[in-house]
Amino acid sequence: MKSKIFISGSSGFIGFHTAKKFLDKGCKVYGFDSMNNYYDINLKKSRLKILKKYKKFIFTKGSLENEKKLFDCVFKFKPQIIIHLAAQAGVRYSIKNPNTYLSSNILGTFNILKVASKFKVKHLIIGSSSSVYGANKKFPFKEIDKTDHQVSFYAATKKSTESLAHSYSALWKLPVTMLRFFTVYGPYGRPDMAYFKFTKKILAGQKIDIYNKGRMYRDYTYIDDIVDGIYKLTNRFPTLSLKNKVKNDSLSPVAPFRILNIGNTKKIYLLDFINFLEKILNKKIRRNYLPMQQGDVHSTLSDSSLLKRITGYNPKTNYKTGIKKFIDWYLNFYN
Ligand SMILES: NC(=O)c1ccc[n+]([C@@H]2O[C@H](COP(=O)([O-])OP(=O)(O)OC[C@H]3O[C@@H](n4cnc5c(N)ncnc54)[C@H](O)[C@@H]3O)[C@@H](O)[C@H]2O)c1
Repeated sequence: MKSKIFISGSSGFIGFHTAKKFLDKGCKVYGFDSMNNYYDINLKKSRLKILKKYKKFIFTKGSLENEKKLFDCVFKFKPQIIIHLAAQAGVRYSIKNPNTYLSSNILGTFNILKVASKFKVKHLIIGSSSSVYGANKKFPFKEIDKTDHQVSFYAATKKSTESLAHSYSALWKLPVTMLRFFTVYGPYGRPDMAYFKFTKKILAGQKIDIYNKGRMYRDYTYIDDIVDGIYKLTNRFPTLSLKNKVKNDSLSPVAPFRILNIGNTKKIYLLDFINFLEKILNKKIRRNYLPMQQGDVHSTLSDSSLLKRITGYNPKTNYKTGIKKFIDWYLNFYN
């Protein structure tokens, strides 16, 4: 595939790895990112530096809210595919700073929908989140389950983008896939996420906060598996015809719109995860047990069989292998 791909959030964790994958496959990639300082800007600069080594990479520093700039870039580049990964992420930060979520996630996604429909791209892929399943108790989570009970403002904005995207898909026959990511981790990861914060604190000999006494689990998905799934999905755009509908499909009956989970499909209990970190970092962890945090969900687990049926997606990295790769990168990067 030698397509032209426009990626928002290309200096972010998932955006960077996604851009790199497409560049490695010989595609032209246009990266767009505000380079905001939500976390260590040097990490974003390092990712960007790697991407800038590719001749087929173009970059614009810009904010999604700047509609004119966004439109100019897309119309100049003429992409077949837009992968929208720019967002204000993080559950906890959304409690204290909801405005940035409204602006980046709602207004930002709205502008992406406008430009994608005006330009008539072949496929718009949008990053959503497992957090939209909120207080659901039926595990594993399936795309056709109801998702009416988000418990954080972040999750509510992600759920809202799914509705906004569905309406644009229906109105303008815009092929849209919403990808619900499940706890993505790996090299060049996000410093606000638990595995990253734990590693930093453990190495510094500091106590780590463990919420709900560790009684929760997550479906940890290694970044290479995520990127592989996105890559395979690019040419599998949803259609208006239900002829291609597969078992338990989330395909909309009125729009070329589909929602897909992308996870590793395994439960990893928090305490097992921490004990494993203790073992590989070879440091006794000082633990601070705390009650459940506001906005957090107890557990997540994906059923990713729909993505598998559609693309052959098959996550290969178990969390022990993936975390070792993350630690190797971390020690090298921060030494
Ligand atoms: N990492 C995960 O575990 C995870 C899980 C679920 C969902 N997601 C979703 O995946 C996507 C990518 O997440 P990530 O982990 O790479 O996050 P990230 O914060 O590393 O990347 C997001 C990038 O978007 C940029 N950005 C933010 N607001 C912007 C704006 N208004 N205009 C232009 N650029 C802007 C940031 O500068 C950043 O580089 C997001 O939609 C996120 O909600 C991630």
